[in-house]
Amino acid sequence: MGRTPLLHVVRRTFTTPSNYVKTGNLTSSATTTHFGFENIAEDEKQSKVHTVFANVADKYDLLNDAMSVGVHRLWKNYFVNSAPLLPNSRCLDVAGGTGDIAFRLMERDPNGIRDITVFDINQTMLDVGMNRAKEEKSLNLNKLKWICGNAEALPFEDNSFDLYTIAFGIRNCTHIDKVCVMFF
Ligand SMILES: C[S@@+](CC[C@H](N)C(=O)[O-])C[C@H]1O[C@@H](n2cnc3c(N)ncnc32)[C@H](O)[C@@H]1O
Repeated sequence: MGRTPLLHVVRRTFTTPSNYVKTGNLTSSATTTHFGFENIAEDEKQSKVHTVFANVADKYDLLNDAMSVGVHRLWKNYFVNSAPLLPNSRCLDVAGGTGDIAFRLMERDPNGIRDITVFDINQTMLDVGMNRAKEEKSLNLNKLKWICGNAEALPFEDNSFDLYTIAFGIRNCTHIDKVCVMFF
């Protein structure tokens, strides 16, 4: 797609950009956007993306394996192993879906993580993730939080997290500029 599909940002200060909130002048002026190989009206994208993931949620992990021949596991392992984890980190995994990144972070360093919030716009994906987590006996469920919301408007106070991750999620968002200003 020509875009980086995996991204992590580590900051001690996690700040809502006040100039963005006040003026909104970073909003894209385009009225169409990409959806797969199509160009569609911007205001249609969120519901189309939502429908796609709601429909595949219970098969999402299987589909990922089938479509990438398992290679997504290697990308995700590499991504998580290269994340700059600080001791006792509060982690936010945006567009976290069924929890693949969160589970790997937890497995990488169970003691180094204070908690991980899996944040996604699609409650069905989060529900699948929560069920997976319950079946995964090695995970400390008390450290996992599941929150439904939009990556373009994170509902968190400044300085709430030490590590922000987003994997295969930015391309699904309508306003990538809004997603990006959220982690700076
Ligand atoms: C391809 S999946 C990636 C899931 C997970 N990160 C992984 O690597 O397996 C993309 C996820 O982005 C979510 N998503 C799409 N638009 C979003 C938005 N605006 N805010 C938050 N999540 C969004 C979808 O619901 C979906 O769960």
